Amino acid sequence: MADRKYKLGVIGLGEGRSIISAAMQSERWELTNVCDLNEDLCKERIEEFGLLRYTTHYDDLLSDPDIEVIAIYTPDQLHGRHIKQALEAGKHVIVTKPLLHSLEDASSLLLASKAAGKLVFVGQSTRFFEPMIHQRRDFLAGRHGEVDTVETYYISDSRWFLQRDWSLQKGFSWLHNFMSHAVDLARWYIPCIEEVFGYGHSSKVNQEYGLTCPDTLRFLLKDEVGRIAQVSGSYTKPTLRQVDSGIGCTLRGSKGTSRALYSKLLYHTHFAGEEPTTHSFEEKRSYYFRFEGESHHAGEYQNYIEYFADCLDQGVTPMPDLNEGIHTLAIMAAMERSIQTRQPVLIDDILQEYSLQEIRRSR
Ligand SMILES: NC(=O)c1ccc[n+]([C@@H]2O[C@H](COP(=O)([O-])OP(=O)(O)OC[C@H]3O[C@@H](n4cnc5c(N)ncnc54)[C@H](O)[C@@H]3O)[C@@H](O)[C@H]2O)c1
Repeated sequence: MADRKYKLGVIGLGEGRSIISAAMQSERWELTNVCDLNEDLCKERIEEFGLLRYTTHYDDLLSDPDIEVIAIYTPDQLHGRHIKQALEAGKHVIVTKPLLHSLEDASSLLLASKAAGKLVFVGQSTRFFEPMIHQRRDFLAGRHGEVDTVETYYISDSRWFLQRDWSLQKGFSWLHNFMSHAVDLARWYIPCIEEVFGYGHSSKVNQEYGLTCPDTLRFLLKDEVGRIAQVSGSYTKPTLRQVDSGIGCTLRGSKGTSRALYSKLLYHTHFAGEEPTTHSFEEKRSYYFRFEGESHHAGEYQNYIEYFADCLDQGVTPMPDLNEGIHTLAIMAAMERSIQTRQPVLIDDILQEYSLQEIRRSR
């Protein structure tokens, strides 16, 4: 039935705050219940949004027959377990990035999703930010001509993020938690990535936090016809905020070039026969940035839950789905392998190693 409301349960109320806001402002969703182990945080959200109830037990969301979709915003290391439990309880899933922190749980999730006949949608928020939405539209309209190279980056001073205890524990990496946005954008435009080569470095600052995962990352990705993506990340150094934008995605094609930026709400284009233009979406600032600072994503989440609702209405699989999410994870596993071996790494080798041959490279 078109335009009906879907019922949502949310687990993890840190960044989960943004999806609460998104659901409450959307005409397509009804927030049924929210859950966090931290009861004080639950009470804070209840007061902030005027909610009627909360729970500290995930089982309460899983066993609630009213809840159709569970949105997961728990620490990266717990996504696999929480997705599987939701699928087994017969719920569709929205999971924030990264889908998983490694490929270990990937094949059991594929099985669980098939057995339940339920969808897993990966909330790659950057795809749903205003400049990126416009860039995608231009790409699909063919305004770039043949795109044969893509450059993406996520450069930020994200030392503030390390206040979370789980960010200093096994399973956290800058690559998965942060650079996955840039990897996903590259893969969105060049889906058939078959080979990866690059370097990663753990800086002194990073080591002072006790982290061994690289905080400085540079990679080249190649697809089967030779198209190239370049993906960069850097996370523990001061940035030039006046010119750096956080996340950027540049498409270079035979008929035009464009660059979409996060969080600047800017989109630069130069298409054949047109003047170079900068498009500003500043009027949407209060829609995208609803809380203090720019580290929350309520606007992007509202865009993606409304897209998800449309997909449910139409019986269409929302993208990125489990297949696409796992392929992106395989690219990141190849990146880690390339850092270790200093060699190019084939995605197919990684997929085979994890018995994931069924994952398709293309969409
Ligand atoms: N752009 C984006 O899409 C975006 C932005 C920020 C964070 N995130 C993702 O959101 C997730 C959470 O990040 P965060 O910054 O909110 O971290 P956080 O530590 O602030 O919040 C995680 C919450 O999960 C709760 N939790 C942990 N285990 C639980 C359990 N078993 N049951 C119920 N609650 C449990 C914790 O108490 C905590 O409140 C991460 O995976 C992160 O990558 C995505």
